[in-house]
Amino acid sequence: MNILIIGSGGREHAFAWKIKQSKHCNELFIAPGNAGTSTCGTNLDIKVNDFETLKHAALQHHIEMIVVGPEDPLVNGIYDYFTANPETKHIQIVGPSAEAAQLEGSKAFAKAFMQRHDIPTASYKEFNSANFEEGLEYINNHSLPIVLKADGLAAGKGVLICTSHEDALHEFDQMIRHAKFGKASNKVVIESFLKGIEVSVFAITDGKSFCVLPEAKDYKRIGAGDTGLNTGGMGAVSPVPFFDETLKDKIVRTIIEPTISGFEKEKLVYKGFVFFGLMIDNGEPYVIEYNCRMGDPETEVVIPRIKNDLVELLSAIDSGNLNEMFIVQDENAAATTFLVSGGYPGNYLTEKVISGLNLITENESLCFHSGTKKINEKIVTNGGRVIAVTDFGKDIKQAVRASLATIEKIKFDEMYFRSDIGFEFVS
Ligand code: AMP
Ligand code: GLY
Repeated sequence: MNILIIGSGGREHAFAWKIKQSKHCNELFIAPGNAGTSTCGTNLDIKVNDFETLKHAALQHHIEMIVVGPEDPLVNGIYDYFTANPETKHIQIVGPSAEAAQLEGSKAFAKAFMQRHDIPTASYKEFNSANFEEGLEYINNHSLPIVLKADGLAAGKGVLICTSHEDALHEFDQMIRHAKFGKASNKVVIESFLKGIEVSVFAITDGKSFCVLPEAKDYKRIGAGDTGLNTGGMGAVSPVPFFDETLKDKIVRTIIEPTISGFEKEKLVYKGFVFFGLMIDNGEPYVIEYNCRMGDPETEVVIPRIKNDLVELLSAIDSGNLNEMFIVQDENAAATTFLVSGGYPGNYLTEKVISGLNLITENESLCFHSGTKKINEKIVTNGGRVIAVTDFGKDIKQAVRASLATIEKIKFDEMYFRSDIGFEFVS
């Protein structure tokens, strides 16, 4: 079948790399893609939220499956747009309906869903301009640190962890009365702080059954030892050493099963990836957040560790036999290190020529492009996060070492990366 991937990051390059290996994939298209995805299929210069143009392209190229990478088009209703239209309803959209995508699109929706289904998460209350004064009082009486979350999508910036009441009161005022995150912070969720270690867990679901994918740990801070500003993610590892069968069983029983049966009970149409952002405190898992898509850079370590044919897995969502699928995981560990532009996550320059990629062969290492594009046959930088370099090893230490060795071959002006991805598992 012909397949279209929507998005342009390392996640979508990893999808493209895996999908092009499927015996079920005939032609592969990526909209809009990047310099890396163009080596796996044909890039289409269409924006991820331009549903009308995506529809024309899907019909023109006889697309039968669309894999949606980022959250934006999902929250904006791409699933509903394609399935409601008689011309395109035969196309399988991998992703949730707009209503179900609210699990990521609205923190208040996600918290209320968890409460209804007894899913462990931090205690919370939601506020808007109507109960603003009550919010001030709630903050004053709350233990520290206090977590403030803009309800809507805020490009990963809408979560503030405040260590003083003054700071929390100020930020709360900024969010609700001064639209700090635009419309996204009209409503604010205030929740208690969870301590522990974070882990990213993923499932594929048809809304009734599910398959759990390999787990991963993501390193979000810009600096070594998890210091400095938050980024989109500077690297990831999979598997996560403390994620044993006991913990996995507990997560399945207390979080994944009630979430999926919650979809069924509430008639939420969900036919795609679910990303459970979890905090593990003393062996007890809590949901920090749901995302309605795969993670980036987690996908760059999770997808290469799945031995199954990805198209076969994704097709099972539609054909109703997902419960017969068994995920076969590579025993090797994978680590990915993101090469980023100097200055990121602040201002940075683009169009820096990237050299050395031709020295890396695919059977040794995988270079998943993110912010890259081609100008006159040269590959240049085109974003903050540029390339995720994934390597493998018998354990995380070896995988990270291999990733760092590969990076030595790649160069661009003001290239920066963290050399300590997976640091807490490497001694
Ligand atoms: P999010 O935008 O929801 O992914 O949150 C960003 C990050 O903030 C998470 O990955 C956590 O590191 C942190 N975070 C969010 N909520 C909490 C919480 N209740 N307790 C502790 N950390 C949190
Ligand atoms: N790596 C975290 C995310 O994709 O949201």
